[in-house]
Amino acid sequence: MLLPEQLAALADVGHELTSGATLAEGFQRAMRMLDERLGARRSALFIADETQRTLTIEAAYGTSAHDFRPRYGLGVAGRVAEVGRPIVVPGVRQEPMALSELADPAGWHKEHLSLISVPVSIRGRCAGALSVYFVSDRTAGFATRLNLLQVVASFIAQGLRGAPPAAAEDMDTEGTSPALPERGGDFSERGAFEYANLIGTSAAMRQVYEEIGQVARTTATALILGESGTGKELVAQAIHANSDRTRKPFVKINGAAFPEALFESELFGHERGAFTGAVSRKKGRLDLAQGGTLFLDEIGDLPLSTQVKLLRVLQFREFERLGGTETLRADVRLVAATNKNMEQAVAAGTFREDLYYRLNVFTITLPPLRDRRTDVPALVEYFLEKYSGEHRRKVRRVASGTLDVLCRYGWPGNVRELENAVERAVVACEGSVVEERHLPKTIRSVALASATPDRKLSLAEAVEQLERRMIEDALRESEGNLARAARALGATERILRYKVDKYKLASLRSRAPGPR
Ligand SMILES: Nc1ncnc2c1ncn2[C@@H]1O[C@H](COP(=O)(O)OP(=O)(O)OP(=O)(O)O)[C@@H](O)[C@H]1O
Ligand SMILES: [Mg+2]
Repeated sequence: MLLPEQLAALADVGHELTSGATLAEGFQRAMRMLDERLGARRSALFIADETQRTLTIEAAYGTSAHDFRPRYGLGVAGRVAEVGRPIVVPGVRQEPMALSELADPAGWHKEHLSLISVPVSIRGRCAGALSVYFVSDRTAGFATRLNLLQVVASFIAQGLRGAPPAAAEDMDTEGTSPALPERGGDFSERGAFEYANLIGTSAAMRQVYEEIGQVARTTATALILGESGTGKELVAQAIHANSDRTRKPFVKINGAAFPEALFESELFGHERGAFTGAVSRKKGRLDLAQGGTLFLDEIGDLPLSTQVKLLRVLQFREFERLGGTETLRADVRLVAATNKNMEQAVAAGTFREDLYYRLNVFTITLPPLRDRRTDVPALVEYFLEKYSGEHRRKVRRVASGTLDVLCRYGWPGNVRELENAVERAVVACEGSVVEERHLPKTIRSVALASATPDRKLSLAEAVEQLERRMIEDALRESEGNLARAARALGATERILRYKVDKYKLASLRSRAPGPR
């Protein structure tokens, strides 16, 4: 939904676009307008040639063509042009993909910019991308800006139609697509930007991005598992955003948030008079999610009677409103999440086995934060910026010793706990650097317990401490595989097994993989 002032801005942008002698000139004027109204500091218009797989800059505002290294299929604009779907990057500085398309990424580090890139489509075909960098004041949501830019892109497309790209006519030759050039090496990083809200580049998170990509391409039901605060909801959103349902609704319902009867009426809707208080017909969330995605949160808490009805939705894609006789179709992708151990719930008889197997088609398991500590610094930086902006503080960084403490802490509440800790620290911090005293007590005390000052250690103790840390890291890196960890450390498996016992690190060794 656009606000009145945004609609006014849009009308002006449309006017300016057509006022210049050339498209580039009109673009500059229009984008200046957008800058004045909405802080759209820099913009670039990319033109793509699908057949040649090339990407060039047609026009720019607040920046120039030399500032970019446009490549078809790579970088944010390159991906948008290739896939034809928008990408939102909340923090350009933290996104390798956003930085990879810039000629001088360091030059862009001074400002905190967010980036929204939308496809420019002509007759249903993607002809390019419009990338707009906003100063991040977080006064307007990304969704509104995205809507607005999509309209601007359609204006631009109209302007471009007069001069179609040379190869436009060749594009229909289906089945005879030319050999694609080799892709560049940026792909390992891809997850970090397409799932732009998810921070982390650890092996475990890269695996998660991979899985999001796989399931997003299908309409399969997905089940997201993981401890509280690991980001299950963000993953559900990422699946939706990366699927071809992205323009349709993403609707959420929480299995633990309603009493039984109310949950069913929320999920399925009800007819007038279905029960006392049902004064009019009401659409259920299943209905509201038609064509899109329904996120069933805390699925482990659903009562058995509701589970039966849900099973029917999964099996036959149909349902009835409470008190209704009409059978409705549900064209909805289901994404479910829980922090419960579902196998235990099935064994205990509180969760139907048949429903469990229906949900368990594609499982994504989110690792607890303590198993991917390498992601802590990036998360800290991300939340630091987010909350410095929100609370209008000038907190720039975390003192290195303090970052060490954060990396060592166990994070039982996972990313949510870290997010809260960083927000508190930002609020408590008077200067520009977060110190240990700004952290919550629980975190500080854990840190104290494990951090004996190094100079008081004997040589043997210091060696042991280092050894233990190296083994911990190697086991995490090898995802608990003892043989691989031993190889990485240049030790034998037998010695490593002995050390793992000695330092009580057995929990880091891989357990049997969960069901998939
Ligand atoms: N990888 C991540 N990058 C950035 N933010 C994250 C990440 N993972 C989690 N968060 C943030 O941490 C908080 C908790 O995430 P989320 O609500 O998705 O967790 P959850 O797994 O659904 O937890 P619960 O089981 O308690 O509902 C949110 O504010 C979310 O934005
Ligand atoms: Mg949740």
